[in-house]
Amino acid sequence: MNLFITNIGQLVTVASNGKRCKTGKQMRELHILENAALLIENGIIKKIGNANELKPVEDIDVVDVEGKVVLPGFVDSHTHTVFAGSREHEFAMRAEGKTYQEIAEAGGGILSTMNATREASKRDLYRLAERRLTDMLRHGTTTIEIKSGYGLSPEAEMKILEVMNDLKRDHYATLVTTFLGAHAFPPEYKNDHNGYVEKICNYMLPYIAERNLAMFVDVFCEKGYFDLHQTEQIILEAKTHGLIPKLHADQLSSFGAAELGAKHNAISVDHLEQLTDASIEVLKNSQTVATVLPAASFFLNHPYAPARKIIDAGIPLAIATDFNPGSAMCYSMQIMLTIACTQMHMTPEEAITAATLNGAAALGLSQEVGSIEVGKQADVVVYDVKDYRYIPYHFGVNHVWKVVKNGVVLEF
Ligand code: NIG
Ligand code: FE
Repeated sequence: MNLFITNIGQLVTVASNGKRCKTGKQMRELHILENAALLIENGIIKKIGNANELKPVEDIDVVDVEGKVVLPGFVDSHTHTVFAGSREHEFAMRAEGKTYQEIAEAGGGILSTMNATREASKRDLYRLAERRLTDMLRHGTTTIEIKSGYGLSPEAEMKILEVMNDLKRDHYATLVTTFLGAHAFPPEYKNDHNGYVEKICNYMLPYIAERNLAMFVDVFCEKGYFDLHQTEQIILEAKTHGLIPKLHADQLSSFGAAELGAKHNAISVDHLEQLTDASIEVLKNSQTVATVLPAASFFLNHPYAPARKIIDAGIPLAIATDFNPGSAMCYSMQIMLTIACTQMHMTPEEAITAATLNGAAALGLSQEVGSIEVGKQADVVVYDVKDYRYIPYHFGVNHVWKVVKNGVVLEF
């Protein structure tokens, strides 16, 4: 909990001086200190300074990183980490030319993972997710949002939410929970979509809120899934219970989902592959974070969200993995940086800001995590590189050397 880290070649602080997020040109300002040192007390960053001046207090563990690079722990603000089964057969079908939508319409997709997840025990789901979370930590991600959404019945959704909350209590990573009962229509409500929306509004949301099982509510607002009216009903009901809205918006088609999110003060609207210029104008006048998910576009060979336009419009942009078995089977934020730089016209500096501070803003946590600043949680990751730009540049390998979570050096 008390720790002194010294001889940091580049301390990439992403300092925001109390600001919730960075926008526009500020996203390129990483506030890097060279030859730096960090004093951590009780899991909190206490002092930041030059390694020649800042010296360890007595009886403190010292980590000499010998010129390596230190970044804030990544904040992965959009994942679907609790699921059973896998869908490599769909991956192969796409390689043969089938589309994500065709596979879903033929009974695969979300419903295939729903079947596997419904069959799994709580213990199995816990173990599967625990392993994934630990591996995410190993890759430098210290704060992780997890959505339910592969249960799609009251019992199965509650099972997933309980697993998420057990992990939140037990796991080293900081976890944030989201209820995504509105991820797809389950077979029981195949011919009664509004009946499922009512079940969510009248039964699931009150149950979840009463037991404090989720902080956020999310809806897959998309053609063939939840329309604007159904999405709005769920958002409004969730708000009466104190849940904060997020949305899966404009992934496959564009019909006003992002605007709906902005209208209801969603903390973030996520995906945005099909975001229009008109929607960008609306988001500009809101507090909503635009979260882009590079892995989903890469994995499904879909268009990329217009990240450049979003940043240039002054909208806060975050990057997350969307880790899930269908559209993004990857939880490495390091690889997200690479895709953002090579495919989305972002600079390494913008990508790092989007993956740390702005990800924290997408979870309402930027006062606690997302940058290395005095008073914040000591979630700092040491990379075995000499220059932070080497991380996205040399892709496909894990550059993490050590992970410090709440001031504790994790042993994997
Ligand atoms: O964010 N788009 C909706 N949900 C997930 C994919 C879910 C799945 O295919 O299992 C996503 O991409
Ligand atoms: Fe998602």
